Amino acid sequence: MPQTILVFLDPAHPAGRLADSRQPQLFATDLGATRGDGIFESLLALDGRPRKVQAHLDRLASSAELLELELPAAAAWLAAIQTGLAEFAQPEAIVKLLVTRGVEDAGQPTAWVQVAALPESSKALREKGLDVLLLDRGYDSGLAERAPWLLLGAKTLSYAVNMAALRYAHQHDADDVIFTSADGRVLEGPTSSVLIAHRDGAVKRLITTQLDSGILPGTTQGALFAAAKDAGWELGYGPLVPADLFDADAVWLVSSIRLLAPVNRIDGTEINHDAELTAELNALLATIR
Ligand SMILES: Cc1ncc(COP(=O)(O)O)c(C=O)c1O
Repeated sequence: MPQTILVFLDPAHPAGRLADSRQPQLFATDLGATRGDGIFESLLALDGRPRKVQAHLDRLASSAELLELELPAAAAWLAAIQTGLAEFAQPEAIVKLLVTRGVEDAGQPTAWVQVAALPESSKALREKGLDVLLLDRGYDSGLAERAPWLLLGAKTLSYAVNMAALRYAHQHDADDVIFTSADGRVLEGPTSSVLIAHRDGAVKRLITTQLDSGILPGTTQGALFAAAKDAGWELGYGPLVPADLFDADAVWLVSSIRLLAPVNRIDGTEINHDAELTAELNALLATIR
């Protein structure tokens, strides 16, 4: 496994300050560590080029706005990403952008880029597909709008619940999770967006879940929808209920790192899949820069 690369955003170092990931680098009083008070992005880099970088910077900015967090300029992020990728020199990498509210009382955010290898497991699941559990998130789909302080549309560092849901799935012979809302809507995975497809003769329809239902707007879903529209697909934006997943011609979980993973089973029940549509969507994904 190549060593993880760290590049801190630091006004004294315009290209970013490289740091040793084998040594401690954060203060124990950093609010990111003590309160999970911060935000992040994960993106894929291929051959040294970050994919959909503007979409990730835009989502980082909207997360920062929701948390009222000061964010370094886009140019500083791009420079630090380049520094990290030049140092990593592998054909595939996960690039994380992280910002915390900083050390207690310092009033300055802590911001860094982390470049690391892709786990083999995520590549394997693209091919093999997923067994998924439907798990209740306990919120209704109108909560995000009623209670903005819950930060439901932000990609915050508080991912312990998402990771716990994945562990629960693994303990119950599944690979992943699709969350449902208290009012019975399909939401998203802990680290992915949900897509379904319907074929009706020559018409192909790609549908995702309702974007204002407290989910994280996926950059992969957004880019894939734009490419699918250009390729003649019809698009839809929910709302979806679990019965729609069983009724669809195919279901996928999509995200920046794992890309498109077909869902094979939901709660132990085999669902429809469509290898041709999976290949077509993979080809569209490959065109996204
Ligand atoms: C909760 C959640 N939903 C959706 C996604 C998919 O987003 P993207 O396609 O931008 O990776 C992620 C990505 O990590 C996520 O954490």
